[in-house]
Amino acid sequence: MTPTAMTRFAGQRALVTGAASGIGRAVARRLAAEGASVVGLDLSRDGLEETFDSIVGAHHIAVDVRSEEAIAAVANSDVLVNAAGILLRHELLEHPLDGWQQTLDVNLKAPLRLSREFARAHIEAGTPGAIVNVCSIESFTALPGHAAYTASKSALLMLTRATALELAPHGIRVNAVAPGVTKTGMNAAVRADPEQAAALNEAIPLKRFATAEEQAAGICFLASPEASYITGATLPIDGGWLTR
Ligand SMILES: NC(=O)c1ccc[n+]([C@@H]2O[C@H](COP(=O)([O-])OP(=O)(O)OC[C@H]3O[C@@H](n4cnc5c(N)ncnc54)[C@H](O)[C@@H]3O)[C@@H](O)[C@H]2O)c1
Repeated sequence: MTPTAMTRFAGQRALVTGAASGIGRAVARRLAAEGASVVGLDLSRDGLEETFDSIVGAHHIAVDVRSEEAIAAVANSDVLVNAAGILLRHELLEHPLDGWQQTLDVNLKAPLRLSREFARAHIEAGTPGAIVNVCSIESFTALPGHAAYTASKSALLMLTRATALELAPHGIRVNAVAPGVTKTGMNAAVRADPEQAAALNEAIPLKRFATAEEQAAGICFLASPEASYITGATLPIDGGWLTR
């Protein structure tokens, strides 16, 4: 069966943050292709419109994941994918504290608030659900100039485990993926620099960057009934980066 012929999410409603581009966009499109009714959240209205251009039955809300409107959108979702994220590059000694706080708010606090709202609704209704958080290889390993990002993504990994532990008795599974370097807007400038791109490639055993679709494949697997006995896990999708 080809991925597009799968119907793993038929009859389900999925909320995807960061759906206007990159990994979130690929997840939203794949969930929709597999039968889900998808709601996409992102700051970029234009990006959301492009994502959902030819998808019938999907809708999107141009909103900040930190807002009350985003929290309200979680209601009735069977699947929650927290893909929105930011990476601010600053040397440690010059790292602006407001950028530090912004990173934690978007990458860590927003997934926490959305997950809690998702869980409250499911516990009240007595229904199962699945959450997938998008962590990073930087949940495990640090890169220079990424202090706030690394801190936020390692905390998101432990939040995934803590949430999984508390929600397991309610039939709510919580997992994460840890993407390696993936071809999205987040690192376009780095990949366009031949020296930096070569250095990154050198660190990847498979010697290439991931596509957003390869990340979506893992995220959708964890969100699907095929992963029914998996909770609290973080799946590296990194071309082997973390094997070293
Ligand atoms: N690209 C990579 O190499 C890589 C590697 C590891 C992890 N990740 C993670 O993958 C996730 C998706 O990133 P991507 O690579 O697709 O990058 P991207 O920049 O293409 O997508 C991120 C999306 O999040 C949205 N967003 C940012 N802040 C927001 C906010 N406050 N409210 C609503 N939406 C907001 C952006 O508008 C954007 O559409 C992120 O969590 C990122 O940290 C990416």
